[in-house]
Amino acid sequence: MRLLVTGGLGFIGSNLVRWILQQHPDVELVNVDAETYAGNPANLADLLPHPRYRGVRADVADRATMRALFHDWHPEAVVHLAAESHVDRSLQDATPFLRTNVEGTQVLLDAARETGVGRFVYVSTDEVYGSLGPTGVFTETSPLAPRSPYAVSKAAGDLLAQAAYHTWRQPVIITRCSNNYGPYQYPEKFIPLVILNALEGQPIPLYGDGQQVRDWIHVEDHVRGLWPALTRGTPGRVYNLSARNEQPNRAVAETILALLGADPALLRTVRDRPGHDRRYALDPSRAEQELGFAPRIPWREGLRQTIAWYHQHTAWWRAIREREDYQNYYQQQYG
Ligand code: NAD
Ligand code: TYD
Repeated sequence: MRLLVTGGLGFIGSNLVRWILQQHPDVELVNVDAETYAGNPANLADLLPHPRYRGVRADVADRATMRALFHDWHPEAVVHLAAESHVDRSLQDATPFLRTNVEGTQVLLDAARETGVGRFVYVSTDEVYGSLGPTGVFTETSPLAPRSPYAVSKAAGDLLAQAAYHTWRQPVIITRCSNNYGPYQYPEKFIPLVILNALEGQPIPLYGDGQQVRDWIHVEDHVRGLWPALTRGTPGRVYNLSARNEQPNRAVAETILALLGADPALLRTVRDRPGHDRRYALDPSRAEQELGFAPRIPWREGLRQTIAWYHQHTAWWRAIREREDYQNYYQQQYG
């Protein structure tokens, strides 16, 4: 299979590329990635060069370049992950979110339609459903009610993908996954931030009362769900992916500190994120029943492995944390 992946130098994308190249020897893979601050060639460096992999540095919203690539290479399938992905950055400046997540998705849908791509997975998020109160879970029929510029831009991508199915019967499949954690996650996100600040003895910023709830899944379990969505998912259909693992932020941070044997006093309450979604929880029953989706990695074991990975990859994260753009972002976000 000729498979085009977008965003394959990011956190989830690089885990997906690694897994596919290892598990599926029939796949030839092209990875389109703009190498933004979050796209890191080091995430795949140990695999490369690889006879079935080609990296293309390009912007998914660049229509001419995407058309040329699709017409030249004729991918049979696409997994579209490229995105601006951090809520806090979308509050600072939504502009790149609209370009990449909205325009970029339409450009790829158009190029895929023109060249007859047979399967197109749009990798979305539970954040498109908005925020829950203390009870209930989101299903695929829950209304879209996104509440941050990031979530709105992803929901726009969902709707464009659905429009492409409705209008042209384009074989688009949408996955909506909950919060991921694991190796190669950019350290602006909560779990790697807690681990690395703890390892370096720096204060750990907890927004507001820390009782916001996220539904955590190990990135390998997400990746293992994307494959059957690509190969067996029903076109036009949405699949929620989650490990049914709700955790309040404060408990996540405390568990990590305990696993590290670090000082709990490192936790510092800081000003809450404006408009902070209170709770996400996702029902993955449809993916379980129709795709055989079955997350394998238990939460504490996954956290242990993740902490060990960051312990063993200090050069990887030090290079990021020492960069000027990371330090400027940190300063602007946390003061
Ligand atoms: P990430 O920020 O780590 O990686 C994003 C990748 O996209 C980077 O490699 C970046 O260089 C690339 N990219 C950004 N703009 C681009 C552009 N214009 N053209 C080409 N490439 C571009 O993000 P992630 O956490 O790996 O998320 C990947 C996808 O999964 C996103 O679509 C995100 O919305 C979705 N998702 C993430 C989570 C999560 O918890 N991280 C959960 C559900 C869904
Ligand atoms: P994050 O990793 O940014 O994912 P998302 O906002 O997309 O769910 O944040 C996860 C949770 O952790 C979220 O409720 C916000 C919270 N959080 C903090 O309390 N402190 C922080 O410094 C960060 C980055 C996040």
